[in-house]
Parts: sequence; C-alpha cells; structure tokens
Amino acid sequence: MAYDLLKLIHVGTVYITFGLFLTRGIWMLLDSPRLQDRWVRVVPHLNDTLLLTAAIAMLVAGGLNPLAHPWLIAKIIGLLLYIYLGTMALKRGRTKTRRALYFAAALATIGYLIAVAVTKQVIPGVI
Ligand code: HEM
Repeated sequence: MAYDLLKLIHVGTVYITFGLFLTRGIWMLLDSPRLQDRWVRVVPHLNDTLLLTAAIAMLVAGGLNPLAHPWLIAKIIGLLLYIYLGTMALKRGRTKTRRALYFAAALATIGYLIAVAVTKQVIPGVI
C-alpha cells in the first residue's frame, strides 16, 4: 500500500483517537455511565490498533528504521506513555483528582506526539 495512503489512515485515526479520548475523559469527569457502554469499550481499541498498524506499515513501506531516527523513538516512547496515562485517567486512577491530572497529562502527551510528528524533532522546535 502506498506510503501516502498509510499516512492518511494514520493521521485520520489520530484525529479519531483524540476525539474519542477527549469524549471519554469528559464522561469520566462527569461520572457518566456512558463510559461503560459496550461500543465505548470496543471502538477506541479497534481504532488504536489501526493507528499503530498504519504506523508500523509506514516504517516498512518507507524503509524507516526507528533506531536511525530519534523522533520515531520519541513517538514509540510517547505512545507507551500515552497508553499508561490514558488507562490511569479512565480506569485505574484512585481518586477523581488523580484521574483528572492523568487525563490532562495524557492530552499533553498527544499534543507532544503530534508536534514530534510534524517537526520530526524529539524536542519540537529545538532539536
Ligand atoms: C498516539 C500516537 C501518535 C500520534 C498522535 C501521531 C501523530 C502523527 C501525525 C499528526 C502525523 C502527521 C505529521 C505530518 O503532518 O506530516 C504522523 C505521521 C507519522 N507518524 Fe505518527 N503518531 C502517533 C504514533 C506513531 C507511532 C507509534 C509511530 C511509529 C513509530 C508513528 C510514525 C509516524 C510516521 C512514520 C509518520 C509519517 C511522517 C511523514 O512521512 O511525514 N506514529 N503521526
């Protein structure tokens, strides 16, 4: 599959991930029972799987070795951090205050990942 099409899928699923996470975080803050809806527990995982699959396919199609590109290593570490912070925000954080802080940190991490992707720099705008 052409690199450009994979990138389109990747970026499209990034927007969906962001929208779904923002929505779930707001439901968490409001103690909404909708957080437990079946589709809410399934669709984000399907989307995230597609996001990551497209990312890996891009590395293969573009002959990109993450070890040779520090910004790609930053994205992999950033993604793992986002998964951890997101789980703490939506499920595992013990108090509402902690979950809210994890939520804010997860949103900041997505922002960082997007900045890294656009600039291809580990510290966007600097190096
Ligand atoms: C939640 C996690 C991620 C977010 C928010 C994200 C975000 C983005 C965005 C916004 C772009 C488009 C940048 C542009 O305007 O050119 C992009 C491109 C890209 N991302 Fe991700 N990404 C994520 C995870 C990953 C991972 C884990 C990898 C693999 C290590 C990856 C590899 C790439 C590659 C290879 C491109 C194409 C760069 C180019 O050719 O311009 N991304 N990403």
